[in-house]
Amino acid sequence: MTGSAKVERSRIAELMEREEKRLEDATPKSFELYKRAAKSLPMGVSSSYQARDPYPLYFTHGKGSKIYSVDGLELSDFHNGFGCMVQGHAHPAIVEAIQKRCELGTQFALPTEDSIIVAETLAQNFKLPKWRFVNSGSEATMDAIRIARAVTGRDTIMKIFGSYHGHHDYVMVSLGIADWGDIGQRDNYKSVSYGKGIPQAVIDMTAAVPFNDAPMMEARIQHLIDEGRKPACVIMEAAMMNLGVVLPEPGYLEAVREITKKHGIVLIFDEVKTGICSAAGGAVERFGVVPDMVTLAKALAGGLPSGAIGASEEVMAVVESGKVYQVGTYSGNPLSMAAARASLEQVMTPDAYKHLNYLNDRLITECDAVCAKYDFPGYTVGISSKGCVNFASGKIVDYETFIKYQDFELCNLAWLYNINRGVIMAPGREEEWTLSVQHTDADIDKYVNAFDELIRDVTA
Ligand SMILES: Cc1ncc(COP(=O)(O)O)c(C=O)c1O
Repeated sequence: MTGSAKVERSRIAELMEREEKRLEDATPKSFELYKRAAKSLPMGVSSSYQARDPYPLYFTHGKGSKIYSVDGLELSDFHNGFGCMVQGHAHPAIVEAIQKRCELGTQFALPTEDSIIVAETLAQNFKLPKWRFVNSGSEATMDAIRIARAVTGRDTIMKIFGSYHGHHDYVMVSLGIADWGDIGQRDNYKSVSYGKGIPQAVIDMTAAVPFNDAPMMEARIQHLIDEGRKPACVIMEAAMMNLGVVLPEPGYLEAVREITKKHGIVLIFDEVKTGICSAAGGAVERFGVVPDMVTLAKALAGGLPSGAIGASEEVMAVVESGKVYQVGTYSGNPLSMAAARASLEQVMTPDAYKHLNYLNDRLITECDAVCAKYDFPGYTVGISSKGCVNFASGKIVDYETFIKYQDFELCNLAWLYNINRGVIMAPGREEEWTLSVQHTDADIDKYVNAFDELIRDVTA
């Protein structure tokens, strides 16, 4: 599957130094802004995921497939706001919807018709009848877990080791490399906190299992049942993001569906990333497995804060009956709902998905061809607008193989190569690319050329 060219560590270090210097020379205004920002914003940013060593770049605007930095860089955007902007920046249909809504008032904390239309569309696309709206992915997963706990009367939850589901306490557990240390055995991973400030009692209530291993999931569920703490839910991404992209192996999702059904455990597909980006009906449509609940956010409202929880009648009955308070001042706010409606009705059309699939296929095929050209140990994975190159000598199927095979130094170097050649990727080795409906062949050419230069240079 992958090539055998040797990549010298000293060569990576040399290229890192060169590329860092090149970026520094090109971004003096960002450095100046950072010095000012650091006095009032920790790390100079509003979310630690926006921080960058030695300083973040600051941006002014975006249009179509491009974003523009204060330093005058024009960048083809493959970051796309961590996957929020599959519609591309300032899409005319979304701009128009937002402008019209602004003039009619933006927040009442009372329902508008757009929320009904968006709910009806999502119900059809995701095959789940009942929806509630929130304002972020974290809110969506937090409320979904509470609902699952209320439905089952249980406290413990199960997730996939290495999966990110937002920044609330329940799921900031067994997450990532920062805490990779003694995590225990694969059949009984320890619950490890992701950062400080999370109560031990909450950490202990979250059990993690490996992705793509249904027998291991069932064994762990049995183990938890034996301990008297059967899980309320399994929360997972059907295709795992945040490790690049890891697709489910054939039969895995079907097996998970069967296991959770058999044990009366609520199955939640967290589609905050896969949701609108991989198909109109997200992973549910792509893989044909219907969970009990779905969570959405990111691309739902074309760049406005939003999120959604979809569920079966049976599950949502605890909300319907008033037993669970699923609430929020800004939930279903008119501005996000207007943008979501415009996105669903006018932007994310069948033709838009055809265009995304076409561009993604090109990107995948051509990056694979670059690997083959230089006999480089790497390969691509993709799904509709999303994808990644794995700098890996073996196949990544879960977090353990991600840690074992991924070349993290090369991931960091690739980010620098991209930005210095007019392409911005999400910061961090775990991130996949997201294309937008406004990307063109020229954006793909730019990415492939930058990738070719990188692989040529590291294998030289
Ligand atoms: C799969 C998944 N779920 C939930 C979240 C949390 O979303 P938000 O950052 O909007 O709270 C993310 C964010 O990256 C995510 O990737």
